[in-house]
Amino acid sequence: MDQTQKEKILVVDFGGQYNQLIARRVRESGVYSEIISYRKGLDAVREAAPTGIILTGGPNSVYADGAPSIDPGIFGLGVPVLGICYGGQLMAHLLGGKVEAAGEREYGKTLVSVDTGSKLFSGIREETVCWMSHNDYITRLPEGFTASAHTANCPFAAMECPEKKLYAIQFHAEVLHTEQGTEMLRNFVYNVCGCRGDWKMESFVESSVRELREKIGAGRVLCGLSGGVDSSVAAAMLAKAVGRQLTCVFVDHGLMRKNEREEVCAVFGENGPFELNFVCVDAAERFYEKLAGVTDPEQKRKIIGEEFIRVFEEEANKIGEVEYLAQGTIYPDVVESGLGGESAVIKSHHNVGGLPDHVRFKEIVEPLRYLFKDETRQAGRELGLPEYLVSRQPFPGPGLGVRIVGAVTPEKVKITQDADAIWREEIAKAGLDKSISQYYAALTNLRSVGVMGDERTYDYAVALRAVTTTDFMTAEAVNIPWEVLSAATNRIVNEVPHVNRVLYDCTSKPPATVELE
Ligand code: XMP
Repeated sequence: MDQTQKEKILVVDFGGQYNQLIARRVRESGVYSEIISYRKGLDAVREAAPTGIILTGGPNSVYADGAPSIDPGIFGLGVPVLGICYGGQLMAHLLGGKVEAAGEREYGKTLVSVDTGSKLFSGIREETVCWMSHNDYITRLPEGFTASAHTANCPFAAMECPEKKLYAIQFHAEVLHTEQGTEMLRNFVYNVCGCRGDWKMESFVESSVRELREKIGAGRVLCGLSGGVDSSVAAAMLAKAVGRQLTCVFVDHGLMRKNEREEVCAVFGENGPFELNFVCVDAAERFYEKLAGVTDPEQKRKIIGEEFIRVFEEEANKIGEVEYLAQGTIYPDVVESGLGGESAVIKSHHNVGGLPDHVRFKEIVEPLRYLFKDETRQAGRELGLPEYLVSRQPFPGPGLGVRIVGAVTPEKVKITQDADAIWREEIAKAGLDKSISQYYAALTNLRSVGVMGDERTYDYAVALRAVTTTDFMTAEAVNIPWEVLSAATNRIVNEVPHVNRVLYDCTSKPPATVELE
């Protein structure tokens, strides 16, 4: 991690749904933050040497059998602790207070009266709207604590013991529905923990480049380059650190968007602006062979991930001694793969959980594994990558493999590519491309009856998707004007053979995910 940055807020994860947001908000305030599972226990917390600790929300009741807990010693480390929702109830419970089921569940935006004399609420309005989501509440404070906020139904919406630097809030300060939540977290970080704010992208990039140089020495590095934001930023960082010791391999797995290969080669190839070795491998056939007849989404991801590594290994062998494999894994990939906090494994991300166990490299380097997406883009700008590359919409590692529901065939890939190219053109023509986080066309495994000319058809249904999101953990489907949908639909059914139906996916995440598989 960045050596010039010393302050750290440790987010101890009890399994709540907003926990990554807490770390993001803290970082946005200029202080580094990391998430660990409560299961790691007190020793791991101590070892992390945090400047402050935040205990997150969670789905349980503190008094339920087997409820997640932590050694109460955490409150005696002399390190400030803020408990949020479940985390706050746990603090009360472990320190001798009482937590009980509330008569009425409090959910949604709630007016909270706060004591503005508290360090946590300094500068906050006396009555402020906060986001509540709880069944239990604190009914008796632990000794030495005082109430610092209340609502109509909740007498202790916040409690504190400033001498011991212990604070708890019943509401979720990390979600934007809590109007002054960001200020409250900022207050905790600056007023209570005494941080000065040493998390800056400029110094992160600088020290990462230095660390990569030290670590890699005279060794050689192979970097998988997909042309997406993450791998491009990782490649640029490595190019800056070790120049021609780096070879970037672009594997065309036959699951790329239309013209992707040509575009990537233009930017990173011989005639591009970067000083690095670039190899483009046409591996479509072998991926199609491995994927033939496979319909299970997780198995498809694993196959694609594994084949990627095999192709890399072969390229590495051609180059000679290659000690390091670089990847553009970012923090949400780490957390969503169940390796960081408490999140359930939702999908094996291609960059993380999908890797085979026996990889023939000395080590995998992941220079972005601590960065959120917006921080990754920022790092790219610091490294001098062009804006069009840095602000590009994300494209998943397994490519169209997760956008073709069911078995993948070259024919289905072609249909998906052509439909997707039309959808992207129409979105751009309507001037919507800047305001939508991610949009693409997918191929469902639904075939249905249609009529074209006088002929009966039995063809595929294409699904169009467009979402907005800030963190890709949650996303909203976009309200696309009908003219745009209908123009894209007409073009797709007319220009793309084997498609007779176009559907628009109106689902948000949750309950859906951004990708179809
Ligand atoms: P989901 O489908 O999980 O997608 O809601 C969230 C974001 O992650 C991208 N995504 C991936 N990116 N490897 C990647 O590099 C993957 O295996 C992968 N799966 C999903 C997806 O495009 C969206 O931006």
